[in-house]
Amino acid sequence: MTIIIATSPKPYNIEIKLGTVMTNNFCKKIAANYRQTAVITDSNIAKLYLQDFCKHINKHTNLIHYTIPAGEQHKNRETKANIEDFLQRNNFCKDSLLIAFGGGVITDITGFVAATYLRGVKVVYIPTTMLAMTDAAIGGKTGINTKFAKNQIGTISSPSAVYIDPAFLKTQAKQQWLDGWSETLKHALLQNKTELEIAFNYYQQKTLNTEELLTIIKNSCNVKNSTVNQDPHEKHIRKSLNIGHSIGHSIETSYNYQVSHGQAVALGIICEAYISYEMGIMTKNTFKLIIYYFKELANKLPHALDDNNFFENLKYDKKNSGSHIKMCLLKDIGSVYNLQDYTTNITNKHLKKCLDFINNEFISTNSAKQA
Ligand SMILES: NC(=O)c1ccc[n+]([C@@H]2O[C@H](COP(=O)([O-])OP(=O)(O)OC[C@H]3O[C@@H](n4cnc5c(N)ncnc54)[C@H](O)[C@@H]3O)[C@@H](O)[C@H]2O)c1
Ligand SMILES: [Zn+2]
Repeated sequence: MTIIIATSPKPYNIEIKLGTVMTNNFCKKIAANYRQTAVITDSNIAKLYLQDFCKHINKHTNLIHYTIPAGEQHKNRETKANIEDFLQRNNFCKDSLLIAFGGGVITDITGFVAATYLRGVKVVYIPTTMLAMTDAAIGGKTGINTKFAKNQIGTISSPSAVYIDPAFLKTQAKQQWLDGWSETLKHALLQNKTELEIAFNYYQQKTLNTEELLTIIKNSCNVKNSTVNQDPHEKHIRKSLNIGHSIGHSIETSYNYQVSHGQAVALGIICEAYISYEMGIMTKNTFKLIIYYFKELANKLPHALDDNNFFENLKYDKKNSGSHIKMCLLKDIGSVYNLQDYTTNITNKHLKKCLDFINNEFISTNSAKQA
């Protein structure tokens, strides 16, 4: 087993081991000391794993479970209130344990419930998607969406532990699997060429060789965790985790979330590298390498990106201040440019060139034929 120590905002362990979670020993270890355990999951995970998981937990504690409908659109205030009402109805108290059993939607919303219910109860995360294992379950951000934008309300608070078991990945749908890889390659891109090459080669094999995968998951968790540990309040190095996300969020919103987060981030990483190259921050060779690593994940957009939407949505990025568009740009693989205050001197001319680049290179040929 690998144990990674997280320190922010409070210390907790991230334990990674294949084939652990659906066992009696594991369930005893996490649940036996609590009067009651509440498992929060979504409808897809419930169908696949809940019965078996509950069978083990039930032997060691009084078990209750609550299933929310699967999907990002349910990561909202109403679902949070429903979970809280369920806990109240069942007399869930501070001597009890919450278990977030699912993807990033479940860890985000259950983490937020845990942070505010009775002013804080214990929670452990069992992430079941690649994205949740390497990104969402680590770093302490919890939250829900509003009708205005994603992740607008939440806390920074630690779970008591995160248990990662890659065995769950065998049932992931293809797009969710790819979405996880965008963030995993992003973490490797922040490290160095060797790690990027290792992660890329593995992802290209498109197999589930779990030993190799375990190593990549550990590495990816380490990048996120050590970055957060060094800079819990996102003053400098934690900002680097936002690469690809300024343009990525704008793409996601411009297509009304029909383009997945992972695809949008992969294209965002390519576009932000293009801006770095245009601004003379990055060499052409590095820019070409970044295209090589991310173009398959970036895939093709369903139709041309609309100028107005693209610019309007960029303005709403949380990193901006006033009218300044701010981005976290790379100088090179493993090297971020100006971490203190992001990059602020990005002009409309750079952005317009970037938009033309997307519309020339990343639009599905089917859509051009149909048009
Ligand atoms: N807190 C953070 O730091 C952070 C970081 C990144 C992302 N996030 C959040 O994470 C969410 C995205 O996470 P996600 O991609 O895991 O989404 P998700 O939780 O919606 O899961 C994706 C889909 O996969 C299904 N699923 C989950 N595990 C499965 C499995 N093992 N087999 C089959 N199906 C499975 C789910 O039911 C869902 O339909 C977003 O809400 C995002 O904002 C948070
Ligand atoms: Zn992301």
